[in-house]
Amino acid sequence: MRGLFVVVEGLDRAGKSTQVSRLASALDAKAIKFPGNIPREDRTTAIGKMIDSYLVQQSELDDRAIHLLFSANRWEARQGIVTCLESGKNIVCDRYAFSGIAYSCAKGLSYQWCKAPDVGLPEPDVTIFLDLSVEEASRRGGYGEERYESVSMQSKVREAFAQIRKDMPQGKWVVVDAGKSVDEVAAECESVVRSLAKPSSASLAPLFAQ
Ligand code: TMP
Ligand code: MG
Repeated sequence: MRGLFVVVEGLDRAGKSTQVSRLASALDAKAIKFPGNIPREDRTTAIGKMIDSYLVQQSELDDRAIHLLFSANRWEARQGIVTCLESGKNIVCDRYAFSGIAYSCAKGLSYQWCKAPDVGLPEPDVTIFLDLSVEEASRRGGYGEERYESVSMQSKVREAFAQIRKDMPQGKWVVVDAGKSVDEVAAECESVVRSLAKPSSASLAPLFAQ
């Protein structure tokens, strides 16, 4: 039996990192994140370095170029994800292709264009969207210096996530109210995953293939 592939999505400051580590320990899962392999973590790739430099505003890139780098950063992790799941280990992943679409659509790129590079990645068994109003997110410790951390950008990102939700097959996208206490949110996330059916096949379906 392969492991479960669970993704956690949401705006900046929705509490994703906290909930990903809580959920990963509850499920004895491997925790991963995107963007990954960036210089602020232990391992780096050339793509991770370019993304990091863009996010901390040390470099400028065309909107489409950075979009493709975020996608390439997921593709370079694909084999590792598949191998881990096939070995029977669960994965809890902080952001995935949905963030890729939401943030680039928020900048004005078209939905279909944004979706295309991620078609065929391993499809998560479920994506938990930690839902928080933009106002509340901005009150949580305020935004830092990173690109995208502004109320106007986050409002557009939230709208784009709403569009993605409409596009998702039944049961693949579950909204959890992230305004509750850390323990309450953690319990809800865990119950979402516990209520999932066991994976019906050993291999993962391709994302956005329908
Ligand atoms: P982080 O705060 O979760 O480390 O993510 C860094 C920023 O990158 C965050 O503002 C969301 C953005 N992002 C994209 O624009 N596209 C993507 O594909 C991903 C994974 C993140
Ligand atoms: Mg962030």
